Amino acid sequence: MESTHTHHQVAASVQRLQSQFGAAPEVAVVLGSGWSDATLQVQDGTALSYAELPGFPRPRVEGHVAEVLVGRLAGPTGVQRVAMLRGRAHTYETGDCAGMNVALRSLKAWGVKVLVLTNASGSLRPHMPAGSLMLITDHINAPQRSPLTGEQGSERFVDMAHAYDLELRAHAVKVARRSQLALGQGVYVWAQGPQFETPAEIRMFAAWGADAVGMSTVPETIAARHAGLRVMGLALMTNMAAGLSTEALTHALTLQQAKASGQRAAQFLAEVVAGMSELESIRS
Ligand code: HPA
Repeated sequence: MESTHTHHQVAASVQRLQSQFGAAPEVAVVLGSGWSDATLQVQDGTALSYAELPGFPRPRVEGHVAEVLVGRLAGPTGVQRVAMLRGRAHTYETGDCAGMNVALRSLKAWGVKVLVLTNASGSLRPHMPAGSLMLITDHINAPQRSPLTGEQGSERFVDMAHAYDLELRAHAVKVARRSQLALGQGVYVWAQGPQFETPAEIRMFAAWGADAVGMSTVPETIAARHAGLRVMGLALMTNMAAGLSTEALTHALTLQQAKASGQRAAQFLAEVVAGMSELESIRS
């Protein structure tokens, strides 16, 4: 059960999505830093501002794009309709880690089946330098905060054992092989930010078994699993994590590296999503 307020927002947003775009696409993507080039691959796209969608995140930076873009992605093996969410709420903006709940629940209620979460991350592994892509196999919720705090009912006790869908992971690996792209795989650890981590924190995360660190994705995966969406996570390494290189960490570096690798990341994302049209479990 969810609060009446949330429930109304979801109902209103679904109605708006439906009247703008018609039936839901099977797949939705949340575009993180460095992934926005993926919108260039969308054919026959139409957009709807988050401002029209009750409960969707409000952009905090003036002029920042905050919209849903719906269209088709064509790949070598098929065409897939997709909804791209440009702009996400980060916990570090307000302290609220439930800022994407309504958006994700609305996608599910509209009829979306698969959610692809993308982000920019710091790498904890020398074999994944800046520019590398990593398929998320599992995560560590370091702050131990939940977007489900306050939820009622037994569904809130979400099984997180296979949060990152095995069939979708196998699919991404297959697409990477076909494209001869080196796709890393590993564990993503959520650090709330907005400050970067200390070298001591990074050594601790590495000892825990983390391979990449970032400030998003985990609350969304939890909310999406609670909503019943299948989840895939793709991380773009924009830097070596704190203490692992002599380079000072800045947001400018993140954006610069994201831009440098963004085209390849976007191309891969488009191929992965387009290829989902082959998957029986998504088509039917
Ligand atoms: N730490 C946290 N978040 C990040 C990083 C990082 O090193 N790089 C990009 N996002």
